[in-house]
Amino acid sequence: MSTNNKTHLSLSKDEMKEYGYKIVDILAEHFDVINSKTVVGQGSRTEMDALLSEDIPYKATPAMEVLNHVTKDVLANVNLLSHPKFYSFVPSPSNFISAMSDSLATGFNIFSGSWSGSAAATKLEIITIHWLLKMFKFPVKTGGGIFTSGGSMANLTALATARNVKCGEDYSKSCIYLSDQAHSSNIKAIRVLGFKKEQVRIIPTDMEFKMSINKLKNAIAKDKLNGMKPFCILATAGTTNTGSVDPLDAIASICKKEKLWMHVDGAYGGGAILSADGRTLLKGIRKADSLTVDPHKWFFQPYEMGCLLVKNHKWLSKTFSEKPEYLRDVEGNKSEINFYDHGIQLTRRFRALKFYMSVKTFGLDAFREAVDYSLKLTEDLEELLRNSPHWEVVSPATLAVINYRYNPIKYNLSEKQLDKLNEYISKKIVNTREAVLVTTILQNQVVLRMCLINPRTTMDDIKETINLCEKYADEYLKAL
Ligand SMILES: Cc1ncc(COP(=O)(O)O)c(C=O)c1O
Repeated sequence: MSTNNKTHLSLSKDEMKEYGYKIVDILAEHFDVINSKTVVGQGSRTEMDALLSEDIPYKATPAMEVLNHVTKDVLANVNLLSHPKFYSFVPSPSNFISAMSDSLATGFNIFSGSWSGSAAATKLEIITIHWLLKMFKFPVKTGGGIFTSGGSMANLTALATARNVKCGEDYSKSCIYLSDQAHSSNIKAIRVLGFKKEQVRIIPTDMEFKMSINKLKNAIAKDKLNGMKPFCILATAGTTNTGSVDPLDAIASICKKEKLWMHVDGAYGGGAILSADGRTLLKGIRKADSLTVDPHKWFFQPYEMGCLLVKNHKWLSKTFSEKPEYLRDVEGNKSEINFYDHGIQLTRRFRALKFYMSVKTFGLDAFREAVDYSLKLTEDLEELLRNSPHWEVVSPATLAVINYRYNPIKYNLSEKQLDKLNEYISKKIVNTREAVLVTTILQNQVVLRMCLINPRTTMDDIKETINLCEKYADEYLKAL
C-alpha cells in the first residue's frame, strides 16, 4: 500500500478499502474467537519497553506494516475486558454493532458539542437521553442529561451541578455525605471541586454494605448544630465492591425533609433497571435529583460512555453555560440544545450513536434478557458455593456481584491464613492467564470478587475457574 498523498494525510479510495476491510476482518475474528483467547495480556514494564519502545517516526512506514505490528505486539498484550472469564472490577461486555458505530462517528469526525455543529447528532443524543430518562422514570419534559466519558466524569458533572444549585458561590460551610462503600471517583470529584476534608462525611455501612440511615441522620444533625450546611447526599445504587444499594427511599425522604440534593451513583448498578428484579432492588432511584449511569458497563457499550441524568435540564445549563464571543454565531434558538452548555466538554465525540444503533439493532428486550441472565447466573453461583464444603459466601449475589472465599471446613485456618490462601488463589489464577479474578477486602477479610455482567459468561466458564481455584488452594494447603 502506497502512501502517495502523504502531505494530505490521506489514502486512495482503494487503499482505504483494503485497510478498512483488514481492520474489519481483525475485529470480526476477535469477536468470533474471544471466548477461546487468553484473557490476560499482562506484561512487565521491562517486557513492554523491549517490545514497543521506539523513537519518533519522521519517515513514513507502510500502513499494513504498522497495522501488523499493532495487531501482533499491541493488541495481543492487553487484557480482554469483554472476555467471559474477565470477572474482576467491572467487566465491559461490549458489542460489535457499537464498535462499528464508533468507527462511523470517528470516521465522520462528528462534533457533538452544539446543535449547529451537528443537528442530527444532537437530536440523537436528545432521543437516547430521553430513552434513559424514561427507563428510570425521570420526568421527560423537564429532565435532561448528557453523555460523558464515563462514570467518573458523570459524578463530577453531577456534584458541580449540585454545588451550584444548592450552595451558589459560597460553599465554605457546605457538607456532603456518602458511604464508606461509595466509589473513589466521587471523592476525586469532591476534591476537584475544592471541598476540604472537613466538609466530607463518610457514613459507615451496615452488615449488608448499605449506608446506615441512623448514622447518616446523626451526622446531619451534628453538622447543623455545628453551623455547617449539609447540601448533598450521595447514594450508591450498586456499589463496586458488593453491588449493594443504599436505602434510596429513606435517603430521598431525608433529602426532602432537609432540602438536600440527592445524587445517585448508579454507574455500576443502573443497568439493572431493565430487569424486573433489578427494578425492585433499585426502588427509589427515580427520586434522585441527579443520577449517574454508565452505558459502558451494564448497557454493553464499548468505552468511553457514561451518562448523567437530571430532573431539570436547566440545572445543567445554569451550571455550565458560558457565552464566549467566538461562539455567538452558533448559539441557535432555545429548542436547539448545545450540549457544550450542559457539561464540561466543548468538543465532544458522538457517543449517542453507538447506544442508538445497538439498542435499535438488538432491541432493548435483548439487553433486558442479558441483564436477567446475569442476575440469575450470579444467584446460581451463590447456591453452588453454599453447597460446597470449601467455600464461604461473604456477600451474597447482588446485582450480579458476589464475594466469597476459600474456607474449607475440615481445616481450622486463622483469619490471617485465610487471607493469604485467597490471595494466593487469585495470584495463581491471574498468572495462569486463564481468568481475571482478583481480591477485594470486606470487613477486614480478603475475598474473591466476581462481577458477572457479561452475558457470554456461562456456568461452565465459572465452574472451570472454581475448579482451578480449588486446585491452587489444595496446592497451597499441602505446602502448609
Ligand atoms: C459505582 C461506580 N461509580 C463510578 C465508577 C467510575 O466509572 P468510570 O470508570 O466509568 O469513570 C465506577 C467504576 O467502576 C463504579 O463502579
